[in-house]
Amino acid sequence: MFAKSSDESVHIRVENPTSDVELEAIRMVNRTAFGGSEEAELVDKLRDSDALVSLVAESELSIVGHIMLSRMWIRTTSEVATAVALAPVAVLPDFQRQGIGARLIDEGLARMKQRGERIVIVVGHPSYYPRFGFSADKAVSLESPFPPEAFMALELGRDHLRGSAGQWSIHPRSACKAGMGAALFGFAPERRFSVAGTRERTLGYSETGQKRRYGK
Ligand SMILES: CC(C)(COP(=O)(O)OP(=O)(O)OC[C@H]1O[C@@H](n2cnc3c(N)ncnc32)[C@H](O)[C@@H]1OP(=O)(O)O)[C@@H](O)C(=O)NCCC(=O)NCCS
Repeated sequence: MFAKSSDESVHIRVENPTSDVELEAIRMVNRTAFGGSEEAELVDKLRDSDALVSLVAESELSIVGHIMLSRMWIRTTSEVATAVALAPVAVLPDFQRQGIGARLIDEGLARMKQRGERIVIVVGHPSYYPRFGFSADKAVSLESPFPPEAFMALELGRDHLRGSAGQWSIHPRSACKAGMGAALFGFAPERRFSVAGTRERTLGYSETGQKRRYGK
């Protein structure tokens, strides 16, 4: 299911949150790739709140790519279910189209599957994410403010979004609170197919009520 990629000179690993130099390099990668500071600031906020994993792509001691996956919540008719948000992912322009983005996404998804996560949501390029198994059809039962073709879901296992396993189902148009995605991704309609933003996450749900660190 996951896309293949090459270039073994680039190493994918978990970020070192104790290294200020590395954290600044991650900011630089996001600022450069997105052409602004919103995503870099989003990464810093997520790191202190709902991040599950933050991975870097390292080439000869410099950081050339980054991905973050974080906790998100889906409201169903009967419960608030956990899912994973894939955002942002960034590769320095000089290193793009070498499969580094794919390797970051593959590794991130593999780690989520290993954790037992069931659903990953992305708002992004409709021509890029389907190769990793993301599908707008899978997300059709989730209410979102995004262009439907850019709002995609991936199931890491059984058909959870359809509720076919009988565990839970998502009622059409009631799964996500309106605006949830915007709060989560800071997605502005005029920035179609971009995952961006720094707005406060306003979902307000927490599994434990505790702040979480990533990489667990
Ligand atoms: C998107 C991004 C992370 C991909 O990283 P990458 O290392 O170049 O990706 P890969 O080499 O694995 O894959 C390259 C593919 O991505 C596609 N791609 C890259 N940017 C794209 C875009 N903006 N829209 C659609 N497809 C895009 C390329 O067309 C290429 O497709 P191909 O394999 O069919 O030729 C990188 O282009 C980037 O940092 N972009 C700026 C930030 C951004 O938009 N992030 C994603 C938000 S959804």
